[in-house]
Amino acid sequence: MKEKLLELKNQALAELDQVTTPDQLKDLRVKYLGKKGPMTEVLRGMGALAAEERPIIGQIVNEVKSELEEAINAKTEIIEAGALKQKLETEKVDITLPGRKQTAGHLHPVTLTLREVKKIFMRMGFEVMEGPEIENDYYNFEALNLPKDHPARDMQDTFYITEEFLLRTQTSPIQARTMQSREPNSPIRMIAPGTVYRNDYDATHSPMFHQVEGLVLGENISLADLKGTLETFCKEMFGNTVEIRLRPSYFPFTEPSAEIDISCVICGGKGCRVCKQSGWLEILGSGMVHPNVLKMSGYDPEKINGYAFGMGIERIAMLKYGIDDLRLFFENDLRFIRQFK
Ligand code: DAH
Repeated sequence: MKEKLLELKNQALAELDQVTTPDQLKDLRVKYLGKKGPMTEVLRGMGALAAEERPIIGQIVNEVKSELEEAINAKTEIIEAGALKQKLETEKVDITLPGRKQTAGHLHPVTLTLREVKKIFMRMGFEVMEGPEIENDYYNFEALNLPKDHPARDMQDTFYITEEFLLRTQTSPIQARTMQSREPNSPIRMIAPGTVYRNDYDATHSPMFHQVEGLVLGENISLADLKGTLETFCKEMFGNTVEIRLRPSYFPFTEPSAEIDISCVICGGKGCRVCKQSGWLEILGSGMVHPNVLKMSGYDPEKINGYAFGMGIERIAMLKYGIDDLRLFFENDLRFIRQFK
């Protein structure tokens, strides 16, 4: 039996010598060391041996197996190294070719503008709040002093989902949501950026656009605070030379209400096509928070007052970058978008 094993080993080693490819190696390994190979057969036949012979033969089998194993592994390395060498010699890589450029994306101009607005207000101590885009009638209208039959509801062409639920037409509902999330009468200084929706589509309106809301509540807050804060904002946003003016306006949730204009950033106030020769650009709506709005959300208008404001981000981006059609923001034309790197 011992002779037979040694003969097997020599036969295997001789065959191994002839092997030149990985496939042949694999076949050889299976042939001699596989489950159906001669080694397994010898082990199976051990039952027929005398008890004292078994360990001796068993040991020889193991020795032969590991010797073969080692020889095959060594040969594997040689063959693989040879294959790599051949590959390196035959495959020519031209390392002087220019690499493939990876183009990184960049932020959308609306995002850039929104971030800048947020940054300016955060520097002035405002916190940033959020609210749902699918809003209910109560928060979008009623809690803002717009009861069901109020004519001012027609100011905004609303997308209704059901009679009760709608796509918010403004970020103003976050005013009421913030007040209701606080201890009644506690001070608030927040902005609320977000996407809003209206059934409108032309060069200055898109059915989806962005607003930033603002709400400041406390004791003895005045119109001067409103003006000072928003003037600071406009100067930070458009440059120190811009002037602002307050123009009387109407919003159901503020009283008095004011539209804030900045001196035209294109012509400096002399009058041009963009400002329609007026020298002024309308930039945001604002006002002192209506007592009804405070009351409905649990605040006492005898103790607490304040101001609110709301602005359209696309409009600000258009003025900042000199863009004359709002639809460009959402048409995904890369020739437009790439200008904001
Ligand atoms: N929500 C108003 C709109 O979408 C903008 C606005 C005006 C918000 C005056 C305010 C405000 O908070 O005080 O037209």
